[in-house]
Amino acid sequence: MVEDATKTKRGGRDYQDLREWLALVAEIGMLRAVRGADWNLEIGTLAELNAKRERAPSLLFDEIKDYPPGYRVTTGALLNAATLGLALRLPTEYSDRELVEALREKIPEWEAKAEEYPPQFVERGTVTENMDVGKAVDLLKFPAPFWHELDGGRYIGTGCAVITRDPDTGLVNLGTYRIMLHDKTCVGFYASPGKHGNIHRAKYHARGEPCPVAISLGHDPLLLAVGAVEIPLGVCEYNYAGAIRGKPMRVIKSDVTGLPIPADAEVVIEGWCPPSEERLEGPFGEWTGYYAGGREPAPIINVAAVRYRDSPIILGCPPNRPPNDHSYLTCVFRSALLHEALVKAGVPDVRGVWRCEAGGSRLWVVVSIKQRYAGHARQAGFVAAQCQQGAYLGRYIIVVDEDIDPFNMNDVIWALSTRSDPEKDIDFVRRAWSSRLDPMIPKPAAGYFNSRAVIDACRPFEWMRDFPKVSEASPEVAQRVREKWREVLS
Ligand SMILES: Cc1cc2nc3c(=O)[nH]c(=O)nc-3n(C[C@H](O)[C@H](O)[C@H](O)COP(=O)(O)O)c2cc1C
Repeated sequence: MVEDATKTKRGGRDYQDLREWLALVAEIGMLRAVRGADWNLEIGTLAELNAKRERAPSLLFDEIKDYPPGYRVTTGALLNAATLGLALRLPTEYSDRELVEALREKIPEWEAKAEEYPPQFVERGTVTENMDVGKAVDLLKFPAPFWHELDGGRYIGTGCAVITRDPDTGLVNLGTYRIMLHDKTCVGFYASPGKHGNIHRAKYHARGEPCPVAISLGHDPLLLAVGAVEIPLGVCEYNYAGAIRGKPMRVIKSDVTGLPIPADAEVVIEGWCPPSEERLEGPFGEWTGYYAGGREPAPIINVAAVRYRDSPIILGCPPNRPPNDHSYLTCVFRSALLHEALVKAGVPDVRGVWRCEAGGSRLWVVVSIKQRYAGHARQAGFVAAQCQQGAYLGRYIIVVDEDIDPFNMNDVIWALSTRSDPEKDIDFVRRAWSSRLDPMIPKPAAGYFNSRAVIDACRPFEWMRDFPKVSEASPEVAQRVREKWREVLS
């Protein structure tokens, strides 16, 4: 029997770049071509409306108004278990729940193997097909959408991967940060305080040096997936992506900034972020569902070079009121990462973690545990609230017993309503990590702090055994009656 060379050992399929990924998405019937849409609000609104549909397809926009045919934008890359599974080289047939469970199993393996998959340096790739340098740079030649009505400008980077290097350790980071187009050679670089790109930039600036930056604007959606979530500290996202693929990511050492850029990308822009120059950035319709960041001065990147494939495709991933273009990806991946972080922090018997789309995968976190000892629930709640995977811009962390399904909002609200006493069971973390995107912080603010409510919605440990019994048929009685009265319930 001849094996399909694109199949990985795990049953998923490997592919090289965004175009091969799109071909596979088309093969499973999940790609919709859209011709003639306007970059001004039509692409953004179609992406927004599409993301609200069940099992929505990916969209590929061509013949965009004012742009030559072939200059394309794709959105909705990771809106369901099939396309997210494909990007993560997992089977495409999983249900949502199965995908979360598969991720829970894979994450420790990916973390352990990341070191074995440093990126592979190559001389050339698809991204070297064209290069504009210096005065030839014109970012307006790419169809950057104006995504939402009240945005402060066109955002060329949404599903992008922003590549920086820690000047102290040499560690390379890939983060997905919004990139606003200021003019043909200048973009904004908004990375919230505490994000790795922000920390790298601050280190260069503290030395009085400009920070070198490369931004990939179209690539294997795997780089979007790993760039958009909290990969454990000290692990480079290229390595993590390599571990997911079971094969190193191909990069080119740029002769402009020296940064490793994805060889198989569609468009990569590069330049320097100067220490003392800022331009007004925003507002931008964000994942919280608001234009909360307002318009504030933010660092910029002076773009020195652009490399791009013939007929390049920009990978868009616009946020907005959830569900949105990235909320499926982030809630599934961040839930599994937080579950693993709790296990690694030594919290025993974690039975499930769910960070729902409505809470932007950050503001509403449910952790279910099998209570083993007094204080176990608070431990789980506070670790979930403050570990690397959960600390940024959270709000409510609800800890429930193991009989509560964290994915099921009815279950969670029932537990919250019947197993917690507000006076005793809500603790607060004050002056916690937030940002300008938090709609509850009036702007401008000297420091973007918010608070967390850690809600213990587990049965009180000290009288757990005497807690009123749940009034529902036991599984045995339910099964017996279901079998006997099948026709009533069918
Ligand atoms: C589409 C999209 C856009 C994002 N934009 C930003 C942004 O503008 N600034 C930011 O700090 N984080 C943004 N994020 C969240 C970061 O990508 C995320 O926190 C990631 O973990 C950052 O990487 P880092 O931990 O290496 O800094 C965005 C995420 C997505 C999915």
